[in-house]
Amino acid sequence: MSDNSLFEPYALGSVTLSNRIVMAPLTRNRAGAGFVPGDITAEYYAQRASAGLIISEATQISQQGQGYQDTPGIYTDAQIEGWRKVTTAVHEKGGRIFLQLWHVGRISHVDLQPNGGPPVAPSAIRAETKTFVNNGFVDVSEPRALELYELAGIVNDFRQAAANAIKAGFDGVEVHGANGYLLEQFAKDGSNVRTDAYGGSVENRTRMLLEVTAAVIEEIGAERTGVRISPVSPANGISCSDPQAQFDYIVDQLNALGIAYIHVVEGATGGPRDVAPFDYGSLRRRFSKTYIANNGYNLDLATSHLADDNADLIAFGRPFIGNPDLVARLQSGAPLAPFDPATIYGGGAAGYTDYAPYSPASGK
Ligand SMILES: Cc1cc2nc3c(=O)[nH]c(=O)nc-3n(C[C@H](O)[C@H](O)[C@H](O)COP(=O)(O)O)c2cc1C
Repeated sequence: MSDNSLFEPYALGSVTLSNRIVMAPLTRNRAGAGFVPGDITAEYYAQRASAGLIISEATQISQQGQGYQDTPGIYTDAQIEGWRKVTTAVHEKGGRIFLQLWHVGRISHVDLQPNGGPPVAPSAIRAETKTFVNNGFVDVSEPRALELYELAGIVNDFRQAAANAIKAGFDGVEVHGANGYLLEQFAKDGSNVRTDAYGGSVENRTRMLLEVTAAVIEEIGAERTGVRISPVSPANGISCSDPQAQFDYIVDQLNALGIAYIHVVEGATGGPRDVAPFDYGSLRRRFSKTYIANNGYNLDLATSHLADDNADLIAFGRPFIGNPDLVARLQSGAPLAPFDPATIYGGGAAGYTDYAPYSPASGK
């Protein structure tokens, strides 16, 4: 048994978490017709409710915001009802759950867009990456640059989605500002060459993320709002020439807005933590509330980062796929089960809800 602070309760905004382990958002492409999460999704999250906090898979705020097949939405009544089953199931198990709000921007495909149109982006620059559509990985489609007059509508879609999330029973929302999606496409200069108030300077590139965050706060309150960022991650073909200046500024502004947490993907998402030099301590010092650290953590790294006060909470992604009882396994020192790469994206129960808790008898 371990007596380390990873397993101690923690007050996040107005909710108390039973431990400092967060389930990171994991897209699993199993929504039903109308992009509604089904009963199986409620079962999947309930199995993982011993996490101090679950952050849901990324969930599109509009059809335009969708970039992969069978991902869930939060913009129709049916989607709200589907999510209500999820939040009820998690709460019945004593868990807490935030919804991750997502607009993919240029990481999409014409087959997923309204009327088969091009995906939208800050600038008409295609990403060198693939999306998952029609049951296979294909190049993303050529995007078009958003007109200035369209931006307020997207901000409003985030605002409405946050309201819908609370209606569906979520404890809060996480604005997805990471991993090469729309809000990061604005923030990083490799994908933003606009010459209006939303491009150019660090301040201008940050404007969209801050307007969205302010709208969400206005709707549901700062204590129920978090933001995910990935300062140096090249995920989804993105680049930034000045990440330290850009993200120091972003975090200063998010701190001023008073949000409950920042969720920082340290390094390349799902890859090396040291992909590029970056001072995460600078973000930690600039932000007075909760710092959630993610990327490549195991028990030892999580324990030492909490002990050194580098973070308040540690988010684990991939380990939660094959280990619904990850918290108990980490606490008891049980081995972690691997997951099957073939069943990550899409399908049914196989590789989704059929991973068993640890069994001392079998040693697995
Ligand atoms: C299958 C899979 C799906 C993911 N989906 C999301 C997502 O929906 N939103 C997000 O912000 N990150 C997503 N990520 C990134 C994870 O949240 C996390 O940052 C990454 O796996 C690194 O953490 P880990 O080393 O603990 O796995 C995904 C990662 C994987 C492996």
